Amino acid sequence: MLLSPSILSADFSALLDDIKKIEEGGADFIHVDVMDGHFVPNISFGAPVMKCLNGKTSLRYDVHLMIENPAKYIKDFVTDQTEYITVHQEACTDDLAEVLDLIKSYGIKAGVSIKPGTPTSVLEGFFNKVDLILIMSVEPGFGGQSFMEDQLYKAVELSALKREMGYDYVIEMDGGISLENIERVKEAGVEMAVAGSAVYRAEDVPERVRAFKKY
Ligand code: DX5
Ligand code: ZN
Repeated sequence: MLLSPSILSADFSALLDDIKKIEEGGADFIHVDVMDGHFVPNISFGAPVMKCLNGKTSLRYDVHLMIENPAKYIKDFVTDQTEYITVHQEACTDDLAEVLDLIKSYGIKAGVSIKPGTPTSVLEGFFNKVDLILIMSVEPGFGGQSFMEDQLYKAVELSALKREMGYDYVIEMDGGISLENIERVKEAGVEMAVAGSAVYRAEDVPERVRAFKKY
């Protein structure tokens, strides 16, 4: 399974060191959690932080925009190292198709995320237009929350649909993922796991990444 550790739980005063640790452990991406204090009740950091990291890590960015009006800010997150930009369906109820096209116009893969209360059915019509679907397994806004087991069925649904219809989106899950539940997450059909606190609260971060990568 692919692992995208979230730097939301890193030590921001030593961010590059903390990124080197996940790189050493064999992480696949850096999960970049951007929060605006409107879409979610918390503010994290923005594009300048990513730009500072450019060229200093070999890892590519998996950007998760938890912001209102994402179309206005997509361009800011375009860097040579940006692999995915994911927006929330709930923040683009009127213009999701346009926002996805905008992301792709920069040659970047486009993702869409759904909050725990949003069913996968809202994505009908978009399954062949997205490169990634991010299922939230906590209410977005904060790291370190408990995993919502009742979101696993969405991965089961999306992976069955993917098989039946030949779609090629990556199924990602984010929130509360740990070594205790990673096996169930994988069994449900998740292909890319995000982990923040479970990675960065470890005594030995590279070793924790390696432990995740066994799944
Ligand atoms: C929540 C963020 C998550 C979160 C993951 O709003 O999108 O990426 O930081 O952190 P943990 O793994 O601690 O839930
Ligand atoms: Zn996230």
